Amino acid sequence: MADKLRIGIIGTGGIAHSHVNAYKNFPDVEVVAGADIIPGKARAFLDKFDLKDATAYESHEELCKRDDIDAVSVCTYNSQHSVCSVAALESGKDVLLEKPMAITLQQGIDIMRAEKKSGKFVTVGFQPRYDANSVRIKQIVQSGELGKIYYVQTGGGRRRGIPGGTFIEKDKAGVGALADIGCYALDLALNTIGYPKPLTVSAIATNYIAKNPKYYAEPERFEVDDFSAAFIRLEGGITLDFRMSWGMHMDTTGDFIFLGSEGGLKVKQPHYQLWGGAWDGPVGDIIYMHDQFGIPTQTPIPLAQNDKASLFEKKVRAFVDAVKTKGPAPIPTSQIIYNQAIIDGIIRSSAAGEEVKVVFPKI
Ligand SMILES: NC(=O)c1ccc[n+]([C@@H]2O[C@H](COP(=O)([O-])OP(=O)(O)OC[C@H]3O[C@@H](n4cnc5c(N)ncnc54)[C@H](O)[C@@H]3O)[C@@H](O)[C@H]2O)c1
Repeated sequence: MADKLRIGIIGTGGIAHSHVNAYKNFPDVEVVAGADIIPGKARAFLDKFDLKDATAYESHEELCKRDDIDAVSVCTYNSQHSVCSVAALESGKDVLLEKPMAITLQQGIDIMRAEKKSGKFVTVGFQPRYDANSVRIKQIVQSGELGKIYYVQTGGGRRRGIPGGTFIEKDKAGVGALADIGCYALDLALNTIGYPKPLTVSAIATNYIAKNPKYYAEPERFEVDDFSAAFIRLEGGITLDFRMSWGMHMDTTGDFIFLGSEGGLKVKQPHYQLWGGAWDGPVGDIIYMHDQFGIPTQTPIPLAQNDKASLFEKKVRAFVDAVKTKGPAPIPTSQIIYNQAIIDGIIRSSAAGEEVKVVFPKI
């Protein structure tokens, strides 16, 4: 490894800007290349950041051929996550992969197989993991205070917040609100309870709001879900109840709830509409529900303050540090494959109109 860690960016669209902004803050890192399939886009992107010495490519394959690049950020739309991550791993590079992991469970498995074969790692970019209150919620639940956790409600969403661009096209995004912001709500719930394995999923995924020109400007281009709801059985006798929206005639899909045999934790959604499950904004009030001297009691938990570094910068820094120490991945695919399996199960169950089993092929 050279003095500085040498980074390549695959996909130089919207979110790639946040990656480069973070990398540029680190004196031990250098962005040396960018690739985008739209001709000229990677060059213009690198120039915008004054990265004149960095090389622009028009395919991820060309960038991956470079053996002087240590690691890459995969910032393409979802349908290319698996292809680009596998190519980067096969060429010996560690990967910071943007969320969601992929579109299907099979694509997630492909990434894990390439990871195993290469000895390199993939970390998935869930920056809310670094939010002080996400950490606090996990600490409370993991402390055992709530007893046996048997029911979790998660979700979030927007009354009106349907994006455009590549997010609504089937061949690029693959899945809508469910994958875009639903994956965050799933991660907050599953990470808090230790990522138990999903067993079955019964779900619906719809798009009544986005397909209506009264509510959305590009209904003819909209090919994915704008709302989904699911009932998921997890290993260990836990039920997960999930709802997610980009558009609905409702202000909220409800609070986060962790129900245990000895206590409950309610995490309220903040008091504004554009919320996507601990991503678009901080969580709302946290309330501990328990009995004290035989009396049902509610104890507000003081909200923790984040320090100055942005959550995004923390996620990129955690990746850089893991590359330098040769792993482990800060947010490993061994966890996120369960998140991906639920997204995959919701789409399959909605299409089949019945509950589906979740089966994991051998890695
Ligand atoms: N973590 C976050 O906060 C956050 C926020 C927004 C988006 N995202 C995720 O980031 C990803 C990208 O979102 P975006 O808004 O930047 O999308 P975008 O459409 O603006 O950018 C994606 C870019 O990837 C390029 N691309 C596609 N396939 C490629 C390939 N094989 N090789 C090289 N380039 C390729 C496209 O041409 C495009 O320029 C999505 O998966 C999204 O879910 C994460």
